[in-house]
Amino acid sequence: MIELISVYKTFNKGKPNEVSALNGVDLHITRGEFAVIVGSNGSGKSTLLNIIAGSIQLTTGTVSLDGGNVNKLPDYQRSRWIARVFQNPLSGTAPDLSILDNFRLAALRTQKKGLSIGVNSAFIQQVKDRIAILNLGLENKVNQPMGTLSGGQRQALTLLMSVMDECKILLLDEPTAALDPRSADIVMRTADELIKDFKLTSILITHNLKDAFTYGNRIIQMSEGKIIRDVDAKAKSQLKQTDLFEWFA
Ligand SMILES: Nc1ncnc2c1ncn2[C@@H]1O[C@H](COP(=O)(O)OP(=O)(O)O)[C@@H](O)[C@H]1O
Ligand SMILES: [Mg+2]
Repeated sequence: MIELISVYKTFNKGKPNEVSALNGVDLHITRGEFAVIVGSNGSGKSTLLNIIAGSIQLTTGTVSLDGGNVNKLPDYQRSRWIARVFQNPLSGTAPDLSILDNFRLAALRTQKKGLSIGVNSAFIQQVKDRIAILNLGLENKVNQPMGTLSGGQRQALTLLMSVMDECKILLLDEPTAALDPRSADIVMRTADELIKDFKLTSILITHNLKDAFTYGNRIIQMSEGKIIRDVDAKAKSQLKQTDLFEWFA
């Protein structure tokens, strides 16, 4: 589903501030896999996700999605495969627009022609049904501006919106980093449920080792632009949470 072969990324090549963010990453994530990436700051996690999403171009190497080389495809042309959720809940939604309008925008952004999307009652009902899954009572507030909700509520909705269309890959870059623990928990449980329900292939970057332990079926550790540890589902099931802490000792 996602395959990186010998990926290198150098920022500011040839300048005094040159940085090697990725130093030869090989990674194969199969359909339906939920991989969690951990690693200290600056180890290249976000760069890796950005290269998969196409928001930054790699220096050398190959990225394939669904078996096809996408090196030359810009991010907007990868959006039919990929949905993304970022650290900042504010970056995913338009605060002045209602919940419903945000869902309409998300649908318009990714779906092909049908511009009737979002104006009929079937769409509204579909949005409400989806929102009800969150158990936050927000299905009764779809006309309320997004900006009036808490960070956790917004992030949970951003997640939902990102999987409204038929995307296959969900990329999560520290989606709970800006949230209080309770909101973070809601967002992580929502993500986990959506990934299972929609059979998404997913990558989560997190600094929360408890989440890395609890969620997903693979853990990858990065350091200095390389994958230094890759724990598959079987090995992960035998892992103890304390083992993860030791990786960073
Ligand atoms: N746009 C950029 N320009 C220059 N350097 C960058 C850029 N993005 C990331 N870097 C550098 O690349 C390295 C890896 O960054 P990043 O992938 O953001 O790490 P992580 O997400 O693991 O904290 C860091 O040294 C960072 O400063
Ligand atoms: Mg990062």
